[in-house]
Amino acid sequence: MTDHEEMVPVTEQVIGVLGGTGSQGRGIALRLARAGVRVVLGSRDASRAEEAAAALGSGVTGADNAACAAAANIVIVAVPYDGHRETLAALSTELSGKIVVDCVNALGFGKEGPFALDVPDGSACQEAAATLPNSIVIGAFQNLSAEVLLNEEITSVDADVLVLGDDRPSIDRIVELANVIPGVRGIYGGRLRNAGQVESLTANLIAINRRYKTHASIRITGV
Ligand SMILES: NC(=O)c1ccc[n+]([C@@H]2O[C@H](COP(=O)([O-])OP(=O)(O)OC[C@H]3O[C@@H](n4cnc5c(N)ncnc54)[C@H](OP(=O)(O)O)[C@@H]3O)[C@@H](O)[C@H]2O)c1
Repeated sequence: MTDHEEMVPVTEQVIGVLGGTGSQGRGIALRLARAGVRVVLGSRDASRAEEAAAALGSGVTGADNAACAAAANIVIVAVPYDGHRETLAALSTELSGKIVVDCVNALGFGKEGPFALDVPDGSACQEAAATLPNSIVIGAFQNLSAEVLLNEEITSVDADVLVLGDDRPSIDRIVELANVIPGVRGIYGGRLRNAGQVESLTANLIAINRRYKTHASIRITGV
């Protein structure tokens, strides 16, 4: 993040979303766009992103992932864990010097439900940091439900977003970004090496969702 970018309110930055045609990417994009933030959806196929952007309405455009990464000041990663490392490695030039917000959960799904995968780097976030040494990787939005984000009847999203990272100004910037979504509160959640627990917790939330037929999120008390 440049000193100049630090001075600009987050609402005046362009937010890119890699894998933005999926439900999580579209959900985050929708909420940011409704709050007046300009968003570029990324896809492996530009026309798919343009179509998804048009469906979300004003403030959202679409491009291929590389053009999305190049156009944005802050880039959110919303691809499945399967394509995570490869996607980021291919975009290291476009993402250089930028804040990269990873919301990817390294989860597997088996007969007994969701479970945390063993990631050699420790977590998807740490994998992103290892793959993008010239970017500032922040973990956020891993525990937010796409179903809730995409449901416009829910005007206030009842959730806290844990924001993890190793660079204080960038953490503060993404806390500011999370706070743009009505109802959401961004909270510092620790260093990037603690991202694994946050990603794994989504497996518990999915289990809760299945048992109680809901879309659970987290709230932190005492803050
Ligand atoms: N869904 C949720 O409620 C939720 C909540 C919290 C966090 N997350 C995390 O957010 C991420 C996205 O979730 P999602 O449910 O939106 O996933 P998704 O729909 O399966 O995938 C998102 C997009 O990623 C692209 N993609 C698919 N496979 C890819 C690959 N191998 N390499 C690169 N790009 C690929 C696709 O876009 P194109 O084909 O257009 O390129 C797809 O539309 C996941 O890592 C998930 O853990 C999801």
